[in-house]
Amino acid sequence: MDLILILIIASAVIAIAFWPRCKKQCASTDSHQPFWKTLLSSHALSQEDDMIDIKPGSTTLARLSITYKVLFTGFLLVIGVGLMMAGMQIMLTHGKADGKPGVSVNDIVYSYYGNRSGSKLESMLNGAMKAMAPDEERFALIQWARDEAPIKEWPGKIEPIFKQYCVSCHNAEATIPDFTKLANVQKVAEVDQGASIGTLTRVSHIHLFGISFIFLFVGWIFGMSEYQLRWKLILISTPFAFLLIDVMSWWLTKYIPVFAWFTIIGGFGYSLASTVMIFTALMQMWLPRENWWPKWKEDESNQ
Ligand code: HEC
Repeated sequence: MDLILILIIASAVIAIAFWPRCKKQCASTDSHQPFWKTLLSSHALSQEDDMIDIKPGSTTLARLSITYKVLFTGFLLVIGVGLMMAGMQIMLTHGKADGKPGVSVNDIVYSYYGNRSGSKLESMLNGAMKAMAPDEERFALIQWARDEAPIKEWPGKIEPIFKQYCVSCHNAEATIPDFTKLANVQKVAEVDQGASIGTLTRVSHIHLFGISFIFLFVGWIFGMSEYQLRWKLILISTPFAFLLIDVMSWWLTKYIPVFAWFTIIGGFGYSLASTVMIFTALMQMWLPRENWWPKWKEDESNQ
């Protein structure tokens, strides 16, 4: 909730800082022009939507010396592989959260909001561990977890069930939780509340600081490409916007599960924008102009 407040205040400050200046500009130019066009022309970049954003004689990716082409290519390739690894990592960690392969909205809800309909013990006993104990014992364990795992029932009633059916696998030698210890059983018997504030804060700040640098450098390199100005600006700015949406959606999902959709939209958005930027930059550095896609008109290619 604090975060939302901070964001509202921050956007208010930005709006106040930029509003008067915009008004002046809007008044001094043709008032029929939409606001963003006025803003663009005031930056002396372009009056026309489809002009290529390169001033005559300036450095473009195609004109770079081989040194910088190799440098940028190395960086972009490593970032590309990094993005794919990030995708795999998401499949492996969040993907399993609901017990089914592949990332779904439920996975994200389970990771951040938790599965508040029951404990991990209960969902495992109804899922992967269903075959491990007869129904009567399973129900006894589920009932115990639903009663908030009272310790007084552990010695006489619950521990024997675990001893008989579970600890053959769940013991100190195994890499899975050791259920000879009550503390470990209590952990899985708790209702899953999703990601903690501590985890979210840690992951958020690492994500925001780290990834914004990737987008800065990818955008910087892509900025030297020959591309329609409008699309260039969209491609350069969307990753940052979607990164904020992504991180914000984790926090919102912790309280309101439907925001998991924004995590998916955010992640998809910035992956797509970076992929387009990386491919465009590589293409313009190494391929002859005839093979570029999209094809720009000859007279705009300022050769
Ligand atoms: C044949 C070996 C075996 C037996 C017996 C077994 N389990 Fe498991 N259990 C596993 C394995 C392997 C995993 C980890 C795989 C996974 O997460 O899907 C696991 C995972 C779990 C988890 C999730 C732990 C976590 O934190 O991720 C719970 C809860 C669980 N078992 C409960 C039980 C209970 C209760 C019993 C007894 C009724 C039991 N298991 C019996 C092999 C076993």
